[in-house]
Amino acid sequence: MEKAIPAHVGIIMDGNGRWAKHRGLVRTQGHLEGLKAAKRIVKAASDLGIKFLTLYAFSTENWKRAEEEVGFIMGLVKQYLRAEFDFSKRNKIRVRHAGNIDGLPVDIQKEITDSIESTKDFNGMQVILAINYGGRDEITRAFKRFVNEINARTGDSIDKYPTENDIRNYLDNPDVPDPDLIIRSAGEYRTSNFLLWEGAYSEIYISQKLWPDWDKEDLETAITDYQGRDRRFGGVKT
Ligand code: FPP
Repeated sequence: MEKAIPAHVGIIMDGNGRWAKHRGLVRTQGHLEGLKAAKRIVKAASDLGIKFLTLYAFSTENWKRAEEEVGFIMGLVKQYLRAEFDFSKRNKIRVRHAGNIDGLPVDIQKEITDSIESTKDFNGMQVILAINYGGRDEITRAFKRFVNEINARTGDSIDKYPTENDIRNYLDNPDVPDPDLIIRSAGEYRTSNFLLWEGAYSEIYISQKLWPDWDKEDLETAITDYQGRDRRFGGVKT
């Protein structure tokens, strides 16, 4: 590939449940295969030279699912974070988190903070795991941080309105550039509360393929499609 590789790719990994249903399996089996696909795509993205990869693993709305399914996904997250350290070390992958960490079970919080800490000096691709993540929740928390910080500085009264930059600076990972490309598997045409602020000018790529079937070639096809886009960011082509 000669053309520019997107610096930041976000993925809505959808279709695990359908994948399992088509095979007469339980939904959790779909998530297990989804985790394997996530591992393949992390490796492929790192090999392609993508700098930031955000994976939507669990949304603030996913708590509505059956307790067993929620518990299973949390278990997979834990398993992934524990088992992948050697892989991260070999590939210099830095793990980060987006979302409301305080709302997660304490053992998961600990796995996440341990992984962040143990990979913080790796200078390869950054994998941002969106777990208990919702775009609206992220923006709401950004406002809270802004208000709390101003209040702490000035006594207790807000004396300025936040600018766009202020809000951006209080998001979960302000140093991470906005995603160039957001991919969604399993053919659904919606953003489902993913990177609402950051994704304002992201190119969207929808694939019909269910997430557990995703492989390196699917990521390459999405990137080739992205490379053919004309990005104007609301301006006019010169
Ligand atoms: C969406 O498919 C998938 C999820 C809500 C869970 C995604 C989680 C994983 C792949 C495992 C954890 C991953 C990492 C990287 C730690 P769905 O269940 O909504 O599928 P459906 O729409 O076909 O029912």
